[in-house]
Amino acid sequence: MIINRRVQTLDEFTIQQMRDFPHATGELAGLLRDIGLSAKRINVEVNKAGLVDILGDAGTINVQGEDVKKLDIYANNQFMGVLKHGISCAGIASEELDDFIAFDDPVSNNSKYVCLFDPLDGSGNIDVNVSIGTIFSVYRRITALGTPATIDDFLQPGIKQIAAGYVVYGSSTMLVYATRRGVNGFTLDPSIGEFTMSHSNIQCPPTGRIYSVNHGNYFQYSKGVQQYIQRCQQKTKADGGPYTQRYIGSMVADVHRNLIKGGIFMYPSTIDKPKGKLRLLYECNPFAFIMEVAGGNATNGTKRILDVEPTELHQRSSFFVGSKNMMEELEECLNLDL
Ligand code: AHG
Ligand code: MN
Ligand code: MN
Repeated sequence: MIINRRVQTLDEFTIQQMRDFPHATGELAGLLRDIGLSAKRINVEVNKAGLVDILGDAGTINVQGEDVKKLDIYANNQFMGVLKHGISCAGIASEELDDFIAFDDPVSNNSKYVCLFDPLDGSGNIDVNVSIGTIFSVYRRITALGTPATIDDFLQPGIKQIAAGYVVYGSSTMLVYATRRGVNGFTLDPSIGEFTMSHSNIQCPPTGRIYSVNHGNYFQYSKGVQQYIQRCQQKTKADGGPYTQRYIGSMVADVHRNLIKGGIFMYPSTIDKPKGKLRLLYECNPFAFIMEVAGGNATNGTKRILDVEPTELHQRSSFFVGSKNMMEELEECLNLDL
């Protein structure tokens, strides 16, 4: 019998990575397997969202005062259930939970990782059949093994991430994750129900031609941000242009495209949202980590995102992430705001 070994599944890849580290316990591989399993279950529901009574508001407001869609809750429950019953996670924090949860049983208390996630990102797009996603971030806990995870395990700066990734439920479903060793993308093969390696060692092109920002907020942005947007609009062929503007409203889909093709994604603070909209711990940090490993940069406008010391779970931040050269030009413009 000839077995096709050319296409590696996510599990095969994470296990192969472990073989390079003789002391690895396999816990991270187990955690990624659990995240992949949750994503596959969420994918099934996302795909039939137009068919069953799963659309629309769940009728509650989450901790940040936003409408909670039914799929947000479904996705959150999937992650909670799978990670709680797995053996690789001491606790979780999520956009949909007011506070973190320490799983607090003998096995979980001995797990070395905690996980933060945005179970469904871009959920405003569910009802209109536009790509949505999931974002996750993994830290090694800093409290003692054998005890329940505490808030200190979750409030670590992004630079301490062990792994970060996202799932995009799009024209195909993809899981992309980064460790310090690289960024790799896996596309769900529906015929075998497995994520299979499709994008190995992803590098973000240093210069791109795409800028992604909500133009509707233009007059609410700082002078520096406005200046950068104008520069994007003024690019000619001679200086690598013309640029193109793309903004889906699902950060996962927007940043995924820019990671692959080269580009910049911005969600600056506005007059209405002076602290920004996106959440530092489970939206900005994971993408900052992925982008840096892929050769790009991420800032909040004054500081590298990964160096920000978080003070609360649902902390917001302005966010700029993308191709290295574009980020450098952005920073020149942001100096205007200092
Ligand atoms: P979420 O669905 O988790 O609340 O996140 C939505 C986020 C992000 O994905 C997207 O880029 C941004 O909100 C869009 O916001 P605007 O509509 O204000 O541009
Ligand atoms: Mn989100
Ligand atoms: Mn969300």
